[in-house]
Amino acid sequence: MKKRIAILNGDGIGPEVTAQSVKVLSAIAQEFSHQFEYREALVGADAIEKTGTALPAETIDICLDSDAVLFGAVGLPKYDSDPSAKVRPEQGLLGIRKALQLFANIRPIITYPLLQHLSPFKPKHLEGVDCVIFRELTGGIYFGNRHTSEDGNYASDECSYSREEIERIAHLAFQSAQKRKKKLTMVDKANVLDTSRLWRKVVKEMAVQYSDVTVQYMYADNAALQIVLNPRQFDVILTENLFGDILSDEASVLSGSMGMLPSASIGNGTALFEPIHGSYPLAAGKDIANPTGSVLSAAMMMDHFGLYKEARVIRDAVDWALHNNFVTKDIDPINFYFTSTIGDLLGDYINGKIVGSIHKENIELRKSTII
Ligand code: IPM
Ligand code: MG
Repeated sequence: MKKRIAILNGDGIGPEVTAQSVKVLSAIAQEFSHQFEYREALVGADAIEKTGTALPAETIDICLDSDAVLFGAVGLPKYDSDPSAKVRPEQGLLGIRKALQLFANIRPIITYPLLQHLSPFKPKHLEGVDCVIFRELTGGIYFGNRHTSEDGNYASDECSYSREEIERIAHLAFQSAQKRKKKLTMVDKANVLDTSRLWRKVVKEMAVQYSDVTVQYMYADNAALQIVLNPRQFDVILTENLFGDILSDEASVLSGSMGMLPSASIGNGTALFEPIHGSYPLAAGKDIANPTGSVLSAAMMMDHFGLYKEARVIRDAVDWALHNNFVTKDIDPINFYFTSTIGDLLGDYINGKIVGSIHKENIELRKSTII
């Protein structure tokens, strides 16, 4: 299979983690005789510094002309501390979501028994947790009209949704529930917001078509509580843009390390795959970031292409690394391996270059010196 993949490294640890996914994808291409053509494009603070805008037109063109986008991360602290900044790295991400019409953001919450000790939750709370969040990504308050008064003392952000915007993501969420545990939780604030009442009405109507799926409705504040109290109850969570942003960060804590989690953003054309973590500028350039979120995003890309076996091989490689303690500093602060070493190991594993017992001493050279 021939696929064109746009690589948008972005800021902070973005380039480092993305480079490991490219190694993994290249190993997959070699193993399964695919041709993946990579094209890099600028985004975020990196693009602002080089071109003055967070999302150059050329980047949009490259993405539109690709089968998928592998996205690193955007954001730098210097932009966070200046509320008056006209150009911001995040505009690159929001802009590409809009340009590619990526209306559904899919965030699986995976828990790893081996990483339970890293989570602030008690292990008994984490057993059997397996849910996926479907977050609407191109509507709501993120993209509504906004306004700040001349004197700067008044501001407003509009939240609006149309039936069509709700239906297209709800179909994906229902279909996912059908393939999973057949339970869908619609999260909203229908006790307060008109947009939420519309979400509920539309989802209720659609539920008739998906009679094998049990639908539950939950207010967002209660959902925030339930994710902590009893995360096992969830299968598919469907929600609008802002609630999804907040709840998916909260739910990521269940996995033990935010660095482990992938996401897919799907529209009608080119899809985008990115780890859920941010640009983590403090770790940039140190070769210590966890590339797993990005690598598992590459696995989601394979699924999207219909390459299920390839996706499984990537996930197996990640499990293998974890079980052999080939982990980064966020997982094991003392005995850790570098980002680039993990990428090399995953690639070698996929290419069958690691057979029998692992010669850890050969890898030791690239291991942390703090052991
Ligand atoms: C996310 C991020 C983005 C969002 C930011 C970087 C604009 O938090 O992907 O969850 O709010 O959507
Ligand atoms: Mg977020």
